[in-house]
Amino acid sequence: MNKLVFSLFLISLLYSCSSDLSEAQKQEYTLKGKEIAQSTAEGMLKEVAKNKKEGGVKQAMAFCNAHAPEITKDFSSKFGVQINRTSHLLRNEKNAPTQREQEIIDLYLSQKPDALKPIVEKNSDGSVQFYAPIKLLDKCTVCHGVIGETMEAKNDSIVKVLYPNDKAIGFKEGDIRGIWSIKFPKK
Ligand code: HEC
Repeated sequence: MNKLVFSLFLISLLYSCSSDLSEAQKQEYTLKGKEIAQSTAEGMLKEVAKNKKEGGVKQAMAFCNAHAPEITKDFSSKFGVQINRTSHLLRNEKNAPTQREQEIIDLYLSQKPDALKPIVEKNSDGSVQFYAPIKLLDKCTVCHGVIGETMEAKNDSIVKVLYPNDKAIGFKEGDIRGIWSIKFPKK
C-alpha cells in the first residue's frame, strides 16, 4: 500500500513538473486569446469601414496595406502579447505561417467548420500559444471574395498592384480564411 501511495506521489510530482498546461490554465488562455483576437479584429474592421466610407474599397485596401501590420503591433503592445494573423492563402507574404501554424491550419481545414475550437499549447521556450480560426464574413468578400461574383474585378486589380503574388481571393462566407496566432510571454 505504501508503495502505491509513494508511486502516486511520484506520478503527481512528475505531472506538476511536466510542460503541459492544466485544464484551468488552458481555459484562462482560451478566454484571453478570444478577447484579444476579437478586440484586434474590431479595431481593424472599424478603420476599414471608415476608410471604405471615405474613399471606397480602393482607400480601404490602401489602408490595410499600409496599416494592418501596425494595428496588430499596437494591439500586441496593449495586451503584452504577440499577435499574428496567418493563412494558407496569403495576401501579404510577411504573414507566412510557421510550421506549427501551418499544421494548425491544416487541422482546421480537415474539420467541420462548425466544430472548430481554439487551441492552446505551450511552446518549447515556455511561452504559450493561442490559435483560433478566422472565418470569412460577408463584409470581407469585397477584398477576398470570388471575382465577378462577390468581388469586383477592378478591386482585384488594385490588390494585384499591391500584392502581385496574392492568393487570398476566391473565399466564400464561412470559409476558413486563416488563423489567429497569439503568443503569451513566459510567466
Ligand atoms: C478593404 C479590403 C479588405 C477587407 C474588407 C478585408 N481584408 Fe483581409 N486583407 C486585406 C489586405 C490588403 C491584407 C494584407 C495586409 C495585411 O494584413 O498584412 C489582408 C490580410 C488579411 C489576413 C492576413 C493573412 C494574409 O493573407 O496576409 C487575414 C487573415 C485577413 N485579411 C482576413 C480578413 C477577414 C476575415 C476580413 C473580413 C472580416 C477581411 N480580411 C477584410 C484587405 C482586406
